[in-house]
Amino acid sequence: MNYRPLFPPSPSPFLKWAGGKRQLLPLLLNHLPRQFNNYFEPFLGGGALFFELYSLGKLEGKKVFLGDANRELILTYRALQREPKRVIDHLREFQRSHSKEFYYFVRGWDRGEEFETLEPALRGARFIYLNRTCFNGLWRVNRNGYFNVPMGDYKNPKILDEENLWAVSEALQGVTLFNGDYKELLKLAQPGDFVYLDPPYHPLTSTSNFTSYTKESFSQEEQIKLAQLFDHLTARGVFVLESNSNTPFICTLYRKYQIEIVHANRAINSKASNRGKVEEVLIKGKRGSRKKGNLKMTKESW
Ligand SMILES: C[S@@+](CC[C@H](N)C(=O)[O-])C[C@H]1O[C@@H](n2cnc3c(N)ncnc32)[C@H](O)[C@@H]1O
Repeated sequence: MNYRPLFPPSPSPFLKWAGGKRQLLPLLLNHLPRQFNNYFEPFLGGGALFFELYSLGKLEGKKVFLGDANRELILTYRALQREPKRVIDHLREFQRSHSKEFYYFVRGWDRGEEFETLEPALRGARFIYLNRTCFNGLWRVNRNGYFNVPMGDYKNPKILDEENLWAVSEALQGVTLFNGDYKELLKLAQPGDFVYLDPPYHPLTSTSNFTSYTKESFSQEEQIKLAQLFDHLTARGVFVLESNSNTPFICTLYRKYQIEIVHANRAINSKASNRGKVEEVLIKGKRGSRKKGNLKMTKESW
């Protein structure tokens, strides 16, 4: 194709992402606030809800703030936002060259000093290439921050979906992309805004703690900080919806809110025996009425 289509199709997530929310979309859509101002998604990953809201026209005229702590991930979104054609051209080359040797060659780039000086579009294309060809689409880095997932066993991996990348680029126009901690980005949220939180999940068992999307892991203390921020935002009149795992710890943390148990098929788990249906929760910040001030907030606003 190699040109920007006049009418790109609806965009969909271009990455396979652990904890991706594609299958839970119908449910998430049932829990949107009726009306909201700006949209925040600070744990972006594959961005399933963002792309869905965009495709449904629910973000028209709104400011959109997307963030993630994973630097390579945000760099990739930025490259697609700014120079989709260059990303696509590089990916076409990757597709042509794909082999086991090539995979490990590209995987090793982040070990070299020149990596930081690589052109962003090439770095973004590398991220997409590794994501489409690595084992289970996992993004896992070691303590030094080096990507260390082995190659997956795919006969014919779809490395380049050009139409979708053009559509993704279109959807990202005007969006603020933030690389960093969710607490920083959420300082910008105002009453009436809608925030969707999809953090790395609290582990179901002590051995199932897949949380290494970045070199810093998401600890139990961090879950507590997140719950405090949830309280703070909700009290200010921000609409907050959160996904997490169904554990006693999480249910206790959010006990004053509306919690719905949902079932998801989870293919990304390092242990094959732990794959299958898992229980997750959807937590909805109910807007209580404020004692002072003129903001009348009711739970019916959802
Ligand atoms: C469960 S995934 C989000 C999946 C996403 N909703 C989707 O549909 O693909 C959680 C994301 O949180 C990011 N993350 C981890 N710690 C973070 C932090 N402190 N601040 C912001 N993002 C963080 C990870 O890099 C990961 O992409």
